[in-house]
Amino acid sequence: MDRIRIIGGNKLHGTIPISGAKNAALPLMIAALLTDETLILDNVPRLADVALLQRILGNHGVDIMAAGKRPGDHEYQGQTLHISAKNIIDTTAPYELVSKMRASFWVVAPLLARMHEAKVSLPGGCAIGTRPVDLLIMALEKLGAEISIDGGYVIAKAPGGLKGATIEFPKVTVSGTHVALMAATLAKGSTIISNAACEPEITDVADCLNKMGARITGAGTPRILIEGVDKLHGARHTVLPDRIETGTYAMAVAMTGGEVQLSGARPELLQAALDVLSQAGVSITPNNDGIKVARNGAGISPVTVTTAPFPGFPTDLQAQLMALMTRAKGASHITETIFENRFMHVQELARFGAKIALDGETATIDGVAKLRGAPVMATDLRASVSLVIAALAAEGETMVNRIYHLDRGFERLEEKLSACGATIERISG
Ligand code: UD1
Repeated sequence: MDRIRIIGGNKLHGTIPISGAKNAALPLMIAALLTDETLILDNVPRLADVALLQRILGNHGVDIMAAGKRPGDHEYQGQTLHISAKNIIDTTAPYELVSKMRASFWVVAPLLARMHEAKVSLPGGCAIGTRPVDLLIMALEKLGAEISIDGGYVIAKAPGGLKGATIEFPKVTVSGTHVALMAATLAKGSTIISNAACEPEITDVADCLNKMGARITGAGTPRILIEGVDKLHGARHTVLPDRIETGTYAMAVAMTGGEVQLSGARPELLQAALDVLSQAGVSITPNNDGIKVARNGAGISPVTVTTAPFPGFPTDLQAQLMALMTRAKGASHITETIFENRFMHVQELARFGAKIALDGETATIDGVAKLRGAPVMATDLRASVSLVIAALAAEGETMVNRIYHLDRGFERLEEKLSACGATIERISG
């Protein structure tokens, strides 16, 4: 299993290109199941999760062609996928595949909407809390699906097709909103989703669905209205930049000091996180090409932050912020409200000498003057990268073990960081 070796202490200087958003690319690829015409997606990141979803879609009979690079393409430009779900040969998504990535469960929505049936294994994915699918099932039932659970599979049927309905989510859920949105595009009549997630990735998917002929308004607000249509068609869409990758590298620069241009980043996608970094004493300058992040001389000031649905501070940046605050001048408080059990990085950060105390949903981090490199183990996707951030500022050598989580969500992490002066290498095998 690959490992990453880091020698800490170097400031970061240079440019980091921001990739397409994993959390938009996955539902966009899944949305291709809604039409028998080809959906072309540009700026798809090269990630293990994307490759796995290609296999999962292939199992349903979807043809995916990855276009090669053309002259003039940027070195880091994402891939272009031509996805054709002309013939869906199988409406079952098996345990062996779905258990590896939670988002693949979402195929249930387009399969049900277009084929009127789906059999999908209950999901796996990052071990951050129980992460149930009850609200996804509730949304599909509201749209008229008959659902049973048998042998670990969700079996969904809608013999006469789905019917528009009012779906009110009792809590904000990204997965629930994606599923409701996709399913409702082909339902008869109109659907209202209230208390919908407002994450930019939801808006990106809705934009793409509208290009495919869907009639969706209000995406990006808590109330989304969908007028069902009989059929969707092909389209071409560019995946929006990854706000979590953007925030992660911003925190890495904040941690090491230096100055880095995050090329292609869009500040409005992560304003809450950028505001927190400004409070911490980091210089954030939006410009034509993205965001410039710098910390020169000044230390890191402690912050108090609570994770919240968009536009709040994202749970997917919580571990990275905690790593940064291990070096702050004073005590920081970070409260996690989205996922229970999303503090698995705490014990690993302690191996660097960080001082973190947990009390229920809140972590108190007492900044220390120095971190020391250590062997550590990656647990979930975002936790893994928090260990990389700590290692970049730690004295001596860190070996990050079990990095397959990193490969699920961060494209060419070690290349991007070493190009800015970090001493970081992947050790294969
Ligand atoms: C998505 C993101 C993930 C991010 C999260 C929150 C993708 C591929 N993943 O995950 O990176 O951390 O949003 O921004 O886009 N819940 C229920 N019942 C359900 C569904 C969810 O109780 O049926 C709960 C969850 O346990 C959690 C909360 O709702 O406590 C939010 O989950 P949700 O927004 O659905 O997260 P994901 O879509 O899984």
